[in-house]
Amino acid sequence: MNLEMAKLAVAVAKVLGKIIAVIGGKGGSLKSTTTQNLGVALTSQGKKVLIIDFDPQKTVYLWWVLRDKNFVRQQAALAEKLAMLKKQKEETGKVYNAGFAQRIAKQAAEYNKMRSLKVVSMSPANIDWKAIEAYKNEYDYIICDTSGHLEFIGTTKDLIKKSDMVLIPFNNSIDDFNVRLDVKETIKSCGAITAKVFSVVIDMNEKQNAKGIAPRLLANVADTMPIAPVKLYKRSSWLEVKYSGLGVVEAKKDKIATQQFLDLADFVTYEINNAKAA
Ligand SMILES: Nc1ncnc2c1ncn2[C@@H]1O[C@H](COP(=O)(O)OP(=O)(O)OP(=O)(O)O)[C@@H](O)[C@H]1O
Ligand SMILES: [Mg+2]
Repeated sequence: MNLEMAKLAVAVAKVLGKIIAVIGGKGGSLKSTTTQNLGVALTSQGKKVLIIDFDPQKTVYLWWVLRDKNFVRQQAALAEKLAMLKKQKEETGKVYNAGFAQRIAKQAAEYNKMRSLKVVSMSPANIDWKAIEAYKNEYDYIICDTSGHLEFIGTTKDLIKKSDMVLIPFNNSIDDFNVRLDVKETIKSCGAITAKVFSVVIDMNEKQNAKGIAPRLLANVADTMPIAPVKLYKRSSWLEVKYSGLGVVEAKKDKIATQQFLDLADFVTYEINNAKAA
């Protein structure tokens, strides 16, 4: 898959109501981190994104509550600054600092865009498909974060069947491999599905990769779960933003991690819109 081609396609792509399920056979495989950062990356590219958090842990939902609270506070602070400039002008008759006002307006527009990412929490015991159908008319992408617990496997299977894309974050280690065989079985048991299925390698184990273990492991599951050609590396910046309510793309501290998530967003947009399922 040529990433340059994907980027070109992204520019002309038309999307609406595409469902992306992020699944994994165990806890802690970076499902929520991937969901959050993909959501932020797509939003930064002007897409309307809704994340549905199907995990009773509510990792993504609680991240978003914090996020939205921060934005409300920051937007209020900007409004206050603007009001101050306006008052100054009224009182002095002088033209207020135009450059400053422009910067505030730009920042306010930026916050508006960031705030357009929405997260709702939904019970995995009782998927509200009617609500999801309604969301499909409103959002370009609906990213569903799932629980790693086996007790909710039924929900995960229902989601796989209804999705346009399934992403499986995969920590590239032997420990995670057996679990991936289970995920492979889960996907197989769903029968013929329309979703395009991709593994997303989170490369936390460079030592093992250097020995060539990872490619061997991946070859075993690549038939049902081909590997997305976008690598994500373990980066401290992911953790930094986790508790700030931002995504790495917005924090912009780590240029490589930012670029990797933007590339993942481009890849998703390309695959979901322009290519047929295998
Ligand atoms: N870049 C990183 N480096 C190291 N640790 C990380 C990084 N990103 C996330 N983590 C840690 O890994 C944990 C699991 O990540 P995440 O919540 O995304 O996984 P998950 O698959 O959604 O887990 P769960 O099944 O519990 O929902 C996080 O709680 C966080 O502490
Ligand atoms: Mg999670």
